[in-house]
Amino acid sequence: MRRVRALDNISIPHPFPYQGSKRGIARHILPYFPGDVHRLIEPFCGAAAVSIAAAVYGLANRFLLNDLNKPLMDLWKAILERPNKLVDDYEQLWNKQYPDKKAFFFRTREEFNSSHQPHHLLYLLARIVKGSVRYSSEGLFNQSADNRRSGMRPGTMRQQILGVSALLARKTVISAEDFRQVVPKTKKKDLIYMDPPYQGTSFTRDHRYYNGLAYDEFIQVLEIMNENNVSYIISYDGQTGGKSHGKTLPSNLSLKHLLIHAGRSSQATLLGNKHETVESLYLSPALVERLHSEQRMPIKPVSQVQPELAFL
Ligand SMILES: C[S@@+](CC[C@H](N)C(=O)[O-])C[C@H]1O[C@@H](n2cnc3c(N)ncnc32)[C@H](O)[C@@H]1O
Repeated sequence: MRRVRALDNISIPHPFPYQGSKRGIARHILPYFPGDVHRLIEPFCGAAAVSIAAAVYGLANRFLLNDLNKPLMDLWKAILERPNKLVDDYEQLWNKQYPDKKAFFFRTREEFNSSHQPHHLLYLLARIVKGSVRYSSEGLFNQSADNRRSGMRPGTMRQQILGVSALLARKTVISAEDFRQVVPKTKKKDLIYMDPPYQGTSFTRDHRYYNGLAYDEFIQVLEIMNENNVSYIISYDGQTGGKSHGKTLPSNLSLKHLLIHAGRSSQATLLGNKHETVESLYLSPALVERLHSEQRMPIKPVSQVQPELAFL
């Protein structure tokens, strides 16, 4: 806890805007990392805000980033393996978008849907409203641009991408599988951080992300993870202005449920209201045990909503 707090002013690079990114609360999640994490695994990584923050604070030696969205993981590969080339290509696109940014966005989107080039995806992510990706039922990227904005300037993009690349390159394995393929790869000193699609959109196909996720299937995997003593943290569900976005996780999983103040949600901002989002964080029994064996004080219950207090 104190390790993270002391470094609170350090800036954390981020590779691209992504709806649902944990960028705003990553620092509040890190205090629940044990001190001996060898590898951090993010099976639903998106923009991998928590892995990036963990790398900044030196809380894991290795990383496994996974997301079912294959073009997104190809973008991640480009970020880690050839960041300069990726940003050069982005810069070219960015400069070519004038004078008709709107038409250029649609052309790039069409090209991306046929060739899945990482720099096209980076440009699309930079141009859409709040990184809110949408896919059609055929899996085609179909979100529109925010035509009031041009997308992140190439100079800033270079700084962010090179920053992320320096933190994670040569320490990170990338994959694009269903999370169920990734979870069994966990070893004793690993920690899994899971941020699945919100349950409110998970019973049906989730157009915000590449796929939806059925609640029952997710619970089954968690049961197996518990049987195997896997240390994991889940961000699941959320509340905005007291309104819950979905079910909590069942008590028979014996998870430690904490609430994190996440500030104003981007969803609420999009809808034009000012409610504060409170995000649920669940810790697995094996993780709680591991934290206790490091002689951290007992974690206070869910009603104690200030995450900073949880380990004091
Ligand atoms: C809430 S977002 C994760 C955001 C991430 N924490 C961040 O900081 O950007 C959920 C991600 O889960 C991915 N996803 C959905 N279903 C999946 C599945 N079955 N297996 C793996 N990834 C999946 C989506 O593509 C999406 O990127």
